[in-house]
Amino acid sequence: MQATAKQLISDELRRRFQKANNVLVLTGAGVSAESGVPTFRGGGHTAVWKGMPFEVISSAGMLERDLPAVWEWFNYRRGLLAALQPNPAHEAIARWQDRFDRFTLVTQNIDGLHQAAGSRGVIELHGSIWRARCVRCRETENVREMKVNDGAQACLACASPMRPDVVLFGEMLPLGAFEQAAGKAESCDLCFVVGTSAVVYPAAAIPEIARAAGAYVVEVNPERTPLSDLCDEVLMGKAGEILLLLG
Ligand code: OAD
Repeated sequence: MQATAKQLISDELRRRFQKANNVLVLTGAGVSAESGVPTFRGGGHTAVWKGMPFEVISSAGMLERDLPAVWEWFNYRRGLLAALQPNPAHEAIARWQDRFDRFTLVTQNIDGLHQAAGSRGVIELHGSIWRARCVRCRETENVREMKVNDGAQACLACASPMRPDVVLFGEMLPLGAFEQAAGKAESCDLCFVVGTSAVVYPAAAIPEIARAAGAYVVEVNPERTPLSDLCDEVLMGKAGEILLLLG
């Protein structure tokens, strides 16, 4: 089993990994799967909560119609996440940041597990479940200590309602986050795409930008994705097992 897994890493990839100066990693929910975080898609399923597809409860429209329901969904997810720990994939990626001259970690995850593993300067494309943001003045607040059953709270600065500081379907990404990630993608020489179904844009455009700019692109996922054909290598398997094979 171990021998088979080792053979997954080509000599070409080992050589590039040894020599790379500028590495970018894009992660999705799959990198946290081995910590116990449920993915949204994969294995032929998509997430449903209280009978609602997650794209409905996690949408700008739902926020307009029913802010308490959106809080309830994110409180539920925060409750799931509170006890979870980074896994070997998060830890390997955290080690990589000191291995290369330049290293960028871009994540679609809102769970904070990369930071818990020691990653610094993470570009969070979809926000953080551990922050709330005022709907009016955009003041943010740490909600790590908030009780899971607490509902929407008022902004301390202007008393308007707070909302989860995460990107919902139908919303723009945080100001400058995509541009920063795209700029890094244009200059990297090796790009890893780990644990994402690669169907949500603009995040899925990051490896496309890297590839177009000449980077060697490697996907790590137990399933093929719409990006697989664009990649130079597809390493089919669990992130926590495969990333360790690289070092
Ligand atoms: P998805 O849930 O869409 O995809 C998870 C991917 O991880 C799938 O392709 C799985 O095959 C793969 N996977 C599962 N277990 C894995 C493992 N152990 N190692 C590696 N890969 C594994 O998650 P994302 O692509 O992150 O957005 O989803 C993108 C966005 O859609 C999310 O950020 C979220 C969601 O709606 C917002 O909330 C704005």
